[in-house]
Amino acid sequence: MQTSAYVKRRNEIEAYFDHTALDAWKRLTSTEKVSGIRATVRAGRDEMRRELLSRFPDDLTGWRILDAGCGGGALAHALAGRGADVLGVDLSAQMIDHARSGLPKVTGPGRLELVSGDMLGDHGVFDAVVAMDSLIHYARGQVGDALIRLAGRTRMKIVFTLAPKTPLLATMHAVGKLFPRSDRSPAIEPVQAATLIDGVLKRADMADWRKGPAFKVQRGFYISEAQELVRR
Ligand SMILES: C[S@@+](CC[C@H](N)C(=O)[O-])C[C@H]1O[C@@H](n2cnc3c(N)ncnc32)[C@H](O)[C@@H]1O
Repeated sequence: MQTSAYVKRRNEIEAYFDHTALDAWKRLTSTEKVSGIRATVRAGRDEMRRELLSRFPDDLTGWRILDAGCGGGALAHALAGRGADVLGVDLSAQMIDHARSGLPKVTGPGRLELVSGDMLGDHGVFDAVVAMDSLIHYARGQVGDALIRLAGRTRMKIVFTLAPKTPLLATMHAVGKLFPRSDRSPAIEPVQAATLIDGVLKRADMADWRKGPAFKVQRGFYISEAQELVRR
């Protein structure tokens, strides 16, 4: 059961990525030249994508992976390129259309399916879940609930990012500089990762999970932390 607060937040995020900021996100994730803040965000996100990919073997043949909030699908595509059967799910139907038309064909044995919907919907069972910069828009309790729901359908690991609660991020968050006012992101929710993950792992149904390594990426205006939950 999803709470009304979660549904409200999800609707705001869907409206933002489906309409308000669609073009800004297309530009950010393209190869088109960008400058200033956007260039640092792009460089940071490229570094984070490499970090998340480094958590997986080079050969993912036989793996089924969920990219939860796949956006333009770059990470999902890279995982499929390693042989995985990947399902990319995103709230924004426009973003999914963009991913479908923009991504090159997967070469090799991997498969990539892209659908619009809620990452917490019933998509079956996975060996791993990735969630790059998609949980960062939810409050701590909602992220915890999402991780627990995702863990219930994941055999090996969940690799995700959080926005760390740092004074700098808090300031940027307040100033809201990432995009012009017209297409500014719905607020990123900085969280104290240790508190969040400890709380999740205290749950009885998470007894066979442990915390994996964290890795912080800080490039100008992009500050994000890779986290991992692993089945023992
Ligand atoms: C900042 S973008 C990141 C996209 C992609 N993961 C990347 O790193 O390029 C966040 C994405 O998460 C998606 N998202 C947020 N909540 C979601 C949910 N509950 N189910 C599916 N997608 C979600 C948004 O629609 C948006 O496309």
